[in-house]
Amino acid sequence: MAAEKNIRQPGENIPRHIAIILDGNGRWAKRRGLPRTAGHAAGSENFRKIATYCKNIGVDYLTVYAFSTENWKRPEDEVKTIMRLLRRYLNEAIDTMERDQIRMKIFGDVQGLSPELRELVKKTDEISQRYQGFQANICLNYGGRDEIVHAARHYAEDYAAGRTEGELTEAQFGGYLYSAGIPDPDLLIRPGGEQRISNFLLWQCAYAEFYFTDVLWPDFNTDELDKAIAAFQKRDRRYGGVK
Ligand code: IPE
Ligand code: IPE
Ligand code: MG
Repeated sequence: MAAEKNIRQPGENIPRHIAIILDGNGRWAKRRGLPRTAGHAAGSENFRKIATYCKNIGVDYLTVYAFSTENWKRPEDEVKTIMRLLRRYLNEAIDTMERDQIRMKIFGDVQGLSPELRELVKKTDEISQRYQGFQANICLNYGGRDEIVHAARHYAEDYAAGRTEGELTEAQFGGYLYSAGIPDPDLLIRPGGEQRISNFLLWQCAYAEFYFTDVLWPDFNTDELDKAIAAFQKRDRRYGGVK
């Protein structure tokens, strides 16, 4: 078990923003002879632990991919279970987030979610506005391309209505994304063995460092996160320049 670190050490270079694709729940369950849905329950529990750990070691933002715009293709039963787990998670978060000083934001097309989930999203937003500090972003009905198109539509509306003028800049466009005001991820982690981005944070990951591991998400514990951060700390980030 990794030692709990409560404050960031000077010079330790903890990524300010970590993004994680929560993948491998289904295979985790299958290996145990359990239904895929049991893997989603284990994955949801793991998110709680990893989020708390991130907060304790001084990460400012944790963004996780929980349900993509493409995941609706899955069997109805599986989608229903995932939505039920998300409702349960948000309901519990509403009761504890202020005590734990964890702010929460949902990234994604919330219009495509059930009225019940939309209400929970609204509540978590309201609570999060009361304090500062660590923020967990949960990507729900999220797709990177969908986000960019959504942003382009909003910009076009503002432009047509005269609410914005001049030539569009990258920074201005970033303000139309779900991640408006949040710095780009420094480290993107994908557990579960696949080495692809699967439509996650396409705009924001322009200069993120990628870390892939075969460990399945429900088994991705704080030691695994420490390994990912150690790998990140050895990277040389050049942003197109020279050092
Ligand atoms: C990730 O785990 C959770 C969601 C995409 C909702 P998977 O369900 O994709 O698990 P695998 O990849 O099939 O093992
Ligand atoms: C990515 O995982 C989406 C989430 C983890 C929410 P998938 O399991 O859906 O990705 P693919 O299908 O392997 O690319
Ligand atoms: Mg998967």
